[in-house]
Amino acid sequence: MRIGILCSGGNAPGMNNAIITLVKKALSVNITPVLIYDGYKGLLENKFGKPNVRLLEIFNSRGNTVIGSSRSAEFFKLEYKKKAVAILKKNKIDVLIVIGGDGSYKGAESLRKLGVNVMGLPGTIDNDVSSTDTTIGFNTCLNNIVNMLDAIRDSFDSHSGICFVEVMGRAFSDLAIYGGISTEAEAIVTSENIMNAEDFIAIANKTLKNGKRSCIFLITELLYGRNGLPTLQEIAEEVSAATKRTCRVQVVGYVQRGGITSSYDRFLASVMANHCIDCIIKKKLNRVISRINGEITDIDITEATSMPKKRNNIKLAKIYEKINQI
Ligand code: F6P
Repeated sequence: MRIGILCSGGNAPGMNNAIITLVKKALSVNITPVLIYDGYKGLLENKFGKPNVRLLEIFNSRGNTVIGSSRSAEFFKLEYKKKAVAILKKNKIDVLIVIGGDGSYKGAESLRKLGVNVMGLPGTIDNDVSSTDTTIGFNTCLNNIVNMLDAIRDSFDSHSGICFVEVMGRAFSDLAIYGGISTEAEAIVTSENIMNAEDFIAIANKTLKNGKRSCIFLITELLYGRNGLPTLQEIAEEVSAATKRTCRVQVVGYVQRGGITSSYDRFLASVMANHCIDCIIKKKLNRVISRINGEITDIDITEATSMPKKRNNIKLAKIYEKINQI
């Protein structure tokens, strides 16, 4: 049997650990692993390769994906999906394993509909995959955010200022909520509780009056500067004028998605990859691997991709905001 392994979407720390375990476990049970470089785009370009285990292991701690990843617009079109099926056939791939988020799962599900056997591993920093409590990459990304926020707090404490910090996550706010709770942010903004300049001014005045020297507002990306809302920079200027404090906007950006992979993500990726190969051995195909209530399990890919979107835990964000404004 031959299995193809590809990563799709934004890189997520832990993808390398998933690849390493998939490859080694497959070899240990006489399954032939084949690497597919640069995601679905690379699949369409026939970028297949044989893994070198010793070389792969060197990347165990790195937050990149050693086989590359991509977001392929072409892949949404049926003609390209059919082309992908033909390329997989030509390379004698019996099962395609896709490591990625919701969009990548949907790509895999559409290949399944065309007769390809697929498996999915949830690799995304956003933690927004409905079929699992935790995704591979979320923990490392959160640690990166927390390290940045600790440093930002140092600067703004020293200069008695206010900082709006924007973190990734697309429409989902786990990175902002977990990051904000871990660093005692004075406010956490998600799509369900968009705040305006007056709201920020009120919180800043309250907390500064309580003797705090700094105020950190954690903002989920893609909220401001669209849908009629001012940009964060515009809001920061208004807050600065009203509070007479230095007010800055800091976008955390791509440092979130790389660096040294946390022990938790290495562990999660490895046990999920092991479970994935176990499913393949048992001919339990077209499944995605999940961690639910602490257990590693698997779910039918069609069921997984039709689950409702995860909801933000806004209640938790509100509880901690209240605590942190003291
Ligand atoms: O899905 C992961 C993610 O990092 C999101 O949090 C973010 O919105 C997006 O990818 C950024 O995409 P790109 O790497 O294409 O800029």
